[in-house]
Amino acid sequence: MIQPIIAANWKMHKTIPEAVAFAKQLKKEFPEPGRVDIVIAPPFTALRSVMEVLKDSLIHISAQNMHWEEKGAYTGEISAAMLVDAGCKFVIIGHSERRALFGETGGMLNKKMHAALKSGLKPIFCIGETLEERESGATFEIIQKQIKEGLNNITPNDIRQVAFAYEPVWAIGTGKTATPLQAQEVHGFIRKTIAVDLEYAHASDTVIIYGGSVNPESTGSLVDQPDINGALVGGAGLDFDSFADIIRIAGR
Ligand code: 13P
Repeated sequence: MIQPIIAANWKMHKTIPEAVAFAKQLKKEFPEPGRVDIVIAPPFTALRSVMEVLKDSLIHISAQNMHWEEKGAYTGEISAAMLVDAGCKFVIIGHSERRALFGETGGMLNKKMHAALKSGLKPIFCIGETLEERESGATFEIIQKQIKEGLNNITPNDIRQVAFAYEPVWAIGTGKTATPLQAQEVHGFIRKTIAVDLEYAHASDTVIIYGGSVNPESTGSLVDQPDINGALVGGAGLDFDSFADIIRIAGR
């Protein structure tokens, strides 16, 4: 039985007081183990303060990015060990905004995956096609390439620690959610790729979450799909009531 994940990616939003207030509310609202794992990904500046609030709770903290080197002269970068130190259990790797706006390549993401796993972080590895790629019929090819590049030489033991997030680029921040059937089609393909191309025998246990304009209205029909094991929420995860609704709906 897969334990689904509902994660809020706050991107470049929220001051420390705002992040702390949200975390306190979340901890109060969800004090008991539920049927979903709750994860929030604050900006780096708020990680430590959020950890202080959530350390004795069931809610997990994720970073939004990291560098692959352990330490050194990399101005502006943050290592996996620093994230562990700040209280992170998860790290988002390969978000389409990192790929498109900051030039992150499959090779760089693979180095990040190795470094995250070595430090004991659980990567939430993001993949997804652009609108042009979808319209030219290249979706599956792109998804397969992203998985093979990102997970190159990752051992089965480590694949077990990885959650995948399918985030079609055309659905991010656009209000245009993939239909449950569109998303399920790709999620099924992702699971097959993990089993066949990565030769991972336990792909049926891998958590594959959907992201792209998820809101309380779309959550139920998405998580009802057999291969959709939760959501990576952007905009609706900034608002406490929306995020709490999404958690409740996914945990029904
Ligand atoms: P939106 O939910 O705002 O579309 O963002 C999705 C996303 O990028 C989460 O990582």
